[in-house]
Amino acid sequence: MSDNRAIGVFDSGLGGLTVVSQLLRCLPEESIVYFGDTGRVPYGTRSRETIRKYALEDEAFLLKNDVKMIISACGTVSSVAADTAETLPVPFFEVVSHAAVMAAELTESGKIGVLGTAATVKSGKHESCIKRILPDARVTAVACSLFVSLVEEGWFKDDDAVVIETARRYLKPIIDNECDTVILGCTHFPVLAGAIKAVAGDRVKLIDAGIATAKAVKEYLCKNEMSADGGNKPQHKFFVSDKPYSFINTASLLLGKSINGEDIKQVDLSSL
Ligand code: DGL
Repeated sequence: MSDNRAIGVFDSGLGGLTVVSQLLRCLPEESIVYFGDTGRVPYGTRSRETIRKYALEDEAFLLKNDVKMIISACGTVSSVAADTAETLPVPFFEVVSHAAVMAAELTESGKIGVLGTAATVKSGKHESCIKRILPDARVTAVACSLFVSLVEEGWFKDDDAVVIETARRYLKPIIDNECDTVILGCTHFPVLAGAIKAVAGDRVKLIDAGIATAKAVKEYLCKNEMSADGGNKPQHKFFVSDKPYSFINTASLLLGKSINGEDIKQVDLSSL
């Protein structure tokens, strides 16, 4: 049995393209429909009620596109609004629990850092997922809102003084608490992996939530005979709710390869 319908992926903006890049690597035969809510990003500084409302609308858009499953690539939605998926007619994956499992498996000291948005850190979801596996784990979670803006500005390299200084400030509690494993709990952060390693040290293990989730999705599709059969060329469709200044550069950076502006369509969720 197989299912050639697309996997639906949504995020508050373009950051979820880091998760798409891992899906493309891990599941090259699968079609993908991506929705980035660029007109309303960021979600990470908003209230739980607003994040839930937006998540429901994002999920409804993907369902209209006949997807076989929905992935919330957004660390914020995955942390505070995963319950919006309870009534979905298709399987739902979020990015927090898989990253937490991977971190709990890889840590040697039980000291784990989490980098996320303010809403993600406030939710404590990474910590509760980790403690279900490692009850004695010591979790240090830090809200790193400026990291999102830096990446959107195209500043992410480990030789950029502003990036390194920002990373030094955010990572201080993680370094002080001697974490040996750090979860990149926000879509934009994998792009900053080099700078984070430069500050936290090469021995720190970084957990990319996109890699952890792509592995879990692959296992699920195989186990439930829902993989694409490989007979058709996979289609990758990208939708956004706005096309802000320099969005092509940001999208290409996050996806890890250049993307054409014509390939990204703008939609108005209120007209659905
Ligand atoms: N996509 C969001 C996340 O992963 C980051 C940007 C935002 O705050 O919306 O949490």
